[in-house]
Amino acid sequence: MKDFLTRPAWIEINLDNFENNIKEIKNLVGDSTEVMSVVKSDAYRLGALPLSYISTELGVNFYAVATLGEALTFRKEFPNSDILILGYTPPYLYEDAIKNNITLNLYSLDDANNLDAIAKRMLKVAKIHIAVDSGMSRIGFIPNKDSLDKIINIFQLKNIYVEGIFSHFAACESDPEFTKRQFTYFTNFIKEIESKGYNFKYRHIANSSSVLYHREYDLDMVRPGIIQYGYTDSEKLPEEFNLKEILSIKAEISSIRKVKCGETVGYERFYKCTKDTKVVTLPIGYADAFPRILSEKIEVLINGKRCKQIGLICMDQMMIDATGVDCKIGDEVVLIGKQDNEEIRIRDICKFSGDCETSFITHLNRRLPKYYYRHGELVHVSKMD
Ligand SMILES: Cc1ncc(COP(=O)(O)O)c(C=O)c1O
Repeated sequence: MKDFLTRPAWIEINLDNFENNIKEIKNLVGDSTEVMSVVKSDAYRLGALPLSYISTELGVNFYAVATLGEALTFRKEFPNSDILILGYTPPYLYEDAIKNNITLNLYSLDDANNLDAIAKRMLKVAKIHIAVDSGMSRIGFIPNKDSLDKIINIFQLKNIYVEGIFSHFAACESDPEFTKRQFTYFTNFIKEIESKGYNFKYRHIANSSSVLYHREYDLDMVRPGIIQYGYTDSEKLPEEFNLKEILSIKAEISSIRKVKCGETVGYERFYKCTKDTKVVTLPIGYADAFPRILSEKIEVLINGKRCKQIGLICMDQMMIDATGVDCKIGDEVVLIGKQDNEEIRIRDICKFSGDCETSFITHLNRRLPKYYYRHGELVHVSKMD
């Protein structure tokens, strides 16, 4: 297996856990609601393609990305899936989107006219979902009379098919009252459009926490992101919802040295040994996954023991106090995941950096090779930069 490695530090992805999570999501929302799997930023950096083979196998046909580039990469592997771009796509990219049957979101009549003209020239019909700003203040039509008129206008365009309408919750878990208001604002606006005789096949607003807590917000489609990967991004533990974290980060010990009491470790001589110290070096650093702000805050697992990271985390390496721990060069160290009876979770680390789990995983560097395991077997290795 190690033959595939380009370096002695890597990510392991548990596809059985991913499969479990997709099944849980589908069970939660039931058969009458479509699941649109949010795989933007390469599935939050965990690998959109290898993960989506599994979700497609489990009956997921809709995928959401943030950019046309992501959509085109996805399209090559998944010719039959529906792909929605959640972010803004400028008119100069419309032709490519139409050519590749990518669904765009729209929230301007000018853009709609532009898209219609380009689709007409190509003898095609462009598929869109209308974006509505129900309280996120980010993108989307604001529900009012002017927007209503514009949306009706968009429906008249011959080379555009308005398949769906969607909005996004700003604080689904932390502010249930505001969330309810957003939902009401959104659905009342849809009712107004529908009262004019225009209907949508798919209406959607639910993100991960909505999927966990609110069956009443499911509508025709839900858009879970982070829970697919086993993280809740909240105080609530994933196991409360039978979700399983899919990611581990590991490295092999690259060096071991004795550093005398009073000597220092690393840049800026940041750590001063208060005893003779066994310093273990790991070939993984802030460019890979662990921002410098975590220096001297995190622990790693060496032969089942929790050991403190010491000194400033370097770009590609970090040092660990392994005093009293039996280990040798090449031993496998767990930075995220389980070893014997110990476990380090991303949520433990996020406490120190003020980050959230989603942000942590989306900053994993592609230069960390990824190994995908299913039923205990290595089934896929990511390509490395
Ligand atoms: C428009 C939209 N829908 C769905 C999601 C998925 O969110 P989550 O990962 O919280 O489920 C995101 C993520 O940022 C988003 O921007």
